Amino acid sequence: MLEIRGITQRFGGITALEDISFSVAKGDITGIIGPNGAGKTTLFNIATGIYSQTKGQIFLDGVDISRIPAERLARRGLVRTFQNIELFGTLTVLENVMLGLHTQSRCGMLACMTKMPWHIAEERRIRTKAMVLLEFCGITNLADQVAGSLPFGKGRLLEIARAMATAPRIMLMDEPAAGLNNRETNELALLIRKIRDAGVTVVLVEHDMELVMDICDRIVVLNLGQKLAEGTPREIQEHPAVIAAYLGEG
Ligand SMILES: Nc1ncnc2c1ncn2[C@@H]1O[C@H](COP(=O)(O)OP(=O)(O)O)[C@@H](O)[C@H]1O
Ligand SMILES: [Mg+2]
Repeated sequence: MLEIRGITQRFGGITALEDISFSVAKGDITGIIGPNGAGKTTLFNIATGIYSQTKGQIFLDGVDISRIPAERLARRGLVRTFQNIELFGTLTVLENVMLGLHTQSRCGMLACMTKMPWHIAEERRIRTKAMVLLEFCGITNLADQVAGSLPFGKGRLLEIARAMATAPRIMLMDEPAAGLNNRETNELALLIRKIRDAGVTVVLVEHDMELVMDICDRIVVLNLGQKLAEGTPREIQEHPAVIAAYLGEG
């Protein structure tokens, strides 16, 4: 479904990624792991049109998407969550998800806010859909809370709910478990599985090894911009180069 083909990225003298290639199969949860500075976020930034790669291509269903800006990728079914949560802090939880839904609504946000009668039905439909997504992510009880006041872990769930509002076919998640405690991480693991079971292919950059080994079907290991290994969680755990890189890091 997603193919990374020969991606090289240089920033001045730094080679952040060097000739990286791998594929993500539809319906899989694919993990991308590697020490800090390995190039994981850079790869997501190229895939979502934030950086222009030095070399190589990224294909979504056979179409090169690496120079298509993020807003337009949502229409192709690709959505991304960020390493640092980005929410509308002064809006409620429900409104944050409704905004995500408005991007696909026929009726524009402004038109809807003027509450013209022919827009009220549309607004009600979007509200109902948003509630379904909050339910899916287990945060229905927070619907009317202001997003800026949420505990960090709940903000993460809201960010995912909002990403789901774009009706994605593939979701790229950058370190979703960062800053979460054990209970929240377990909750997240269940949610990621649920997202996959709902038909969304998942690509996960993550530091939490236990989480990665638990939920990923396949794993790609990056180190200093190079692809070190690729395989099932078991293969990766037993891979000598991976063990060396992680022991070397400590
Ligand atoms: N915009 C940029 N300008 C210069 N160097 C960058 C930029 N973005 C990333 N890098 C460098 O690329 C390398 C990989 O970074 P990054 O992709 O953030 O790693 P990771 O997400 O795996 O921790 C690092 O050496 C980082 O300093
Ligand atoms: Mg990163």
